[in-house]
Amino acid sequence: MLLDGKVVVVSGVGSGLGRAIAVQCAKAGADVVLAARTESRLTDVAEEVADLGRRALSVPTDITDDAACQNLLDSGLAQFGRVDALVNNAFAMPPLSDLATVDLDDVRSAFDVNVLAALRLTRLFAPALAERSGSVVMINSAVLRHSRRTFGAYKLAKSGLLSLAQSLAAELGPRGIRVNSVAPGYIWGDNLKWYFDYLASKRGVTPQDIYDETAGTLDLRALPEPEEIADTVVFLASSLARVVTGQCLDVNGGEYHH
Ligand SMILES: NC(=O)c1ccc[n+]([C@@H]2O[C@H](COP(=O)([O-])OP(=O)(O)OC[C@H]3O[C@@H](n4cnc5c(N)ncnc54)[C@H](OP(=O)(O)O)[C@@H]3O)[C@@H](O)[C@H]2O)c1
Repeated sequence: MLLDGKVVVVSGVGSGLGRAIAVQCAKAGADVVLAARTESRLTDVAEEVADLGRRALSVPTDITDDAACQNLLDSGLAQFGRVDALVNNAFAMPPLSDLATVDLDDVRSAFDVNVLAALRLTRLFAPALAERSGSVVMINSAVLRHSRRTFGAYKLAKSGLLSLAQSLAAELGPRGIRVNSVAPGYIWGDNLKWYFDYLASKRGVTPQDIYDETAGTLDLRALPEPEEIADTVVFLASSLARVVTGQCLDVNGGEYHH
């Protein structure tokens, strides 16, 4: 039970990695605070956490809003009295078009959610985290490791998030707070399954063919599942990682080496 007795706040609890992070943290013994805008999804994940015998607090939150984030902190502390880890997972897909033509307002609003909101939450939670020698985990992406066309705005946002994590590690380290990043590549979840079904029907092959072709490019020949990525978050939030800070752990089955 790596997180026994700890309280973990997860931002952006959707059906994908956010849910998996909350559930794996609960399996590791943590109580969790769940934040996203869609209350019904938070309620579903909270039920899963309760079924595991841990406590979950759902706090509908728009992380681009100062007052909503303050409410998230206040609610978490009122319920549990402490916070040991903050996972900045929330994500808004930046526009997928070339930087030469991309709409700058779309880039700016994606930056608000993917970078500035992580800063907003981290500095708001810092005093509570300092009391517990706590840690922050930023969910990044393998987009850091390539520069393919149309991914420029995504890479810009995630590179900003990486820089934020590293600078915060330096600022918050003296207060005993660790700040790390996890960079997944493919995640074998509902979205990718849907996309592989679509590709398969377009190319007249089976979804398994697409899976095998894609997995064949990874050292481990299997696409990581959400829970497998979430387990690295559990590790970074745990005392096993007590001297790990300012680092980015690529969790991609060996797709890229870093
Ligand atoms: N999926 C992949 O293949 C993949 C690959 C590499 C990296 N990642 C990273 O993994 C993380 C999770 O991605 P995911 O696709 O699995 O998503 P997810 O965890 O299923 O959901 C992310 C959630 O963020 C929430 N969100 C968006 N804007 C918000 C806001 N203003 N305030 C509060 N919450 C907000 C959304 O919920 P509401 O709409 O309810 O607010 C959304 O459901 C992201 O950081 C992503 O970059 C994903």
